Amino acid sequence: MGAFVIEGGNPLFGNAVISSSKNAILPIISACLLSDEESLIKQIPGLDDVTVMCELVSNLGANVEVDGRNRKIYIKTPTLTGYFADYELVSKLRASFLIMGALLARAGKAKVALPGGCPIGSRPVDLHLKGFEAMGAVIENGHGFIEATCPSGRLKGANIYLDFPSVGATENLLIAAVLADGETVIENAASEPEIVDLATFLTKMGAKITGAGTDTIIVKGVDKVRGAEHTIMPDRIEAGTLMTAAAVTGGDITLSNVVPEHLKPVTAKLRESGAEIIEGDTEVRIKSNGRPSAVDIKTHPFPGFPTDMQAPLSAYLCTAEGTSVIVETIFENRFMHVNELRRMGAQIRVDGRTAIIEGLDHMQGAQVRATDLRAGAALIIAGLAAVGTTEVLDIHHIDRGYEFIENKLQRLGANIKRVC
Ligand code: EPZ
Repeated sequence: MGAFVIEGGNPLFGNAVISSSKNAILPIISACLLSDEESLIKQIPGLDDVTVMCELVSNLGANVEVDGRNRKIYIKTPTLTGYFADYELVSKLRASFLIMGALLARAGKAKVALPGGCPIGSRPVDLHLKGFEAMGAVIENGHGFIEATCPSGRLKGANIYLDFPSVGATENLLIAAVLADGETVIENAASEPEIVDLATFLTKMGAKITGAGTDTIIVKGVDKVRGAEHTIMPDRIEAGTLMTAAAVTGGDITLSNVVPEHLKPVTAKLRESGAEIIEGDTEVRIKSNGRPSAVDIKTHPFPGFPTDMQAPLSAYLCTAEGTSVIVETIFENRFMHVNELRRMGAQIRVDGRTAIIEGLDHMQGAQVRATDLRAGAALIIAGLAAVGTTEVLDIHHIDRGYEFIENKLQRLGANIKRVC
């Protein structure tokens, strides 16, 4: 399963280029099922999840041509050859549930395995299904599958109020609404930057969308969409992760290919903890001024503090001066990194959705295990700052969402190597 071996203590210095966003490209690949014309997606990140999503859409009839050297993917779906995604695939990649909206829009039917849970939570899809039903789909849930059909053959526009601003539900329903008959209004929609990137791509395809990035998105259905060309937005979570790695090691790095606006909640917290951050148009520089001060964090939908940065920041705060209180409001089990950090000496108490961190002068290197993508990132951050050697096991979780992270860190001066 592979491991990273990290010798802690090296401050990070230099420059790094941020890759494109995993959470932006996955729904965009699904959206390519809507058109029989070719789309060109540029600046693709080399991530396992992207490979799986491309396999999924090609199983459904998409022609996918990956030009890895030039970081491009060409996708067109002349006709759908399938409407089914099995459990093995969906359990490997939750985002594969995002094909449901595209299949319903293009073909009026879909059969997708229920994604099931994952380490961070049960991850239900009830909000997606409620929205599809509002648009005229008949949903059958049985034997671990969701089967959705449109008796009229075409979804119809509807007014949808999301009980929670779910990113995935907003994306699935947005994609479905593009070819629906009439107008769809999604209220209490998620406003994450990845939603805006998806809406930008769909608009280039000819969709009629207003309000992406706000809590109310309006889509006027069209009969057909064309191919489009799109460059995926930078990965704000990778940027936040590398910023945190620099801060925890007492370094000074500059990241390019970032959108500072997307990083605001993370930048605010790192500044509050004592880091100095200078923002450019498409780059950000972070300098650590010694040991961080403790800060409190409460995760929220965008523009609040992102849940995906909770574990990396928690690792950073393990060596802060003072006590930090972390409240995870989005997922019910997103403290899987805590037990592993404790193996490194971290003083963390968890009570339900709250973690209380008593900062230490330093942590000790240890053998630890990545339980999920962001927990794995947290363990790398802890290992970079720890005294001694840290071995992070099960790094396949990390490869899902961070492109060549060890190479980027090595170039910044970290003593980290991948051992298979
Ligand atoms: C997306 O997951 C991201 N994944 C997650 O990133 C991210 O943490 C999350 O949004 C929140 O920002 C991708 O974009 C591929 P949600 P998603 O639907 O869409 C509940 C990472 O590390 N909910 O906004 O699954 C749900 O249980 C990953 O890159 C329902 O109750 O997140 C959770 O408590 C992890 N019913 C909350 O909403 C539903 O129908 C947020 O889920 C849908 C969601």
